[in-house]
Amino acid sequence: MPDREPTVYILAIESSCDDTAAAVLQNATVLSNVVADQKIHQAFGGVVPELASRAHQQNIVPVVHQALAQAGIDKNQLHAIAFTKGPGLLGSLLVGMSFAKSLSQALKIPLIEVNHMQGHILAHFIDDKKKIKPTFPFLALTVSGGHTQLIRVDDYFNMTVLGQSKDDAVGEAFDKSAKLLGLPYPGGPLIDKYAQTGNPYRFTFTKPKMDGFDYSFSGIKTAILNFIHKGKVKNPDFIEENLADICASIQHTLIEILFDKLVLAVQQTGITKVAVGGGVSANSALRRKLEAYSKDKNWTVYIPDFEYTTDNAAMIGIVGYLKFLKNDFTDESISSTAKYPL
Ligand code: KG4
Ligand code: ZN
Repeated sequence: MPDREPTVYILAIESSCDDTAAAVLQNATVLSNVVADQKIHQAFGGVVPELASRAHQQNIVPVVHQALAQAGIDKNQLHAIAFTKGPGLLGSLLVGMSFAKSLSQALKIPLIEVNHMQGHILAHFIDDKKKIKPTFPFLALTVSGGHTQLIRVDDYFNMTVLGQSKDDAVGEAFDKSAKLLGLPYPGGPLIDKYAQTGNPYRFTFTKPKMDGFDYSFSGIKTAILNFIHKGKVKNPDFIEENLADICASIQHTLIEILFDKLVLAVQQTGITKVAVGGGVSANSALRRKLEAYSKDKNWTVYIPDFEYTTDNAAMIGIVGYLKFLKNDFTDESISSTAKYPL
């Protein structure tokens, strides 16, 4: 990134799943980062795509207004608008894209398409005096409710997917396990909370066998379902009486699955710099294990601030800024893509 460059203001919009988000960046610095999360999905135990699109429609104008107001920037000062093209829920993506397109046309400023997964990774390059930015090459582990990807990053826009989940994402595995335990959505943080006082070695779940760096998390869900069923047959209060140990054991298994492939990738590439992102990077067991590897194995570990790990628009803005510097703009015939490889 150049050290001295003219001031560029970018408005970024993210609407790939259930959060409507807008941010304003001045070059690589975040001036505002607003997220409206959609509580409506809690009642359904997961994201309902149709409801998500409608909520985006309701949220997008106030969220953008708030982002501009908090940044103290008038829309006429903006140099470009960045938006998430994919991957994500099509109906949700279309809302953000249509808004970004119309505003860029009205203001006569460029439009920049952003890959959401690149956003999770390049969030590490947001200017933050307290944080050291990764140097290339590094490995990125993106873990959220929608994605589990292990990526080799050689440059801002030179990334290779080494492996990814072939079925459920790891966050989804946390949430579905939590649901089986009767916990509300999203259950990942609750499993983490109850696991704090539990014994992670009390129960064991068979880990999936996947070739290379790919992941699978759907089998674990079935294993947990059978385990709970068996436990309840013997004791109707099995879950209540063992909740902490069950949560700790589930968490331990899920984090081990993530780590097995990560360690393999470090060994095979010789790259010991690891950047994590996505909502599951908030998990305390994952963080403890990363810390242990940085101490014992000399890994350099990068974890962004929480507001930039979960879905947010600042991460879309930093990709927008890096693309702006390359004059990498999008023409108006662009459309959203539910599947959008890196
Ligand atoms: O990145 P994110 O906010 O949204 C997307 O899915 O893109 O990630 C949300 C996911 C949910 O599955 C949630 O349960 C999980 O991150 N999560 C956690 C924790 N905090 C959030 N999973 C385990 N432990 C946590 N502390
Ligand atoms: Zn995400």
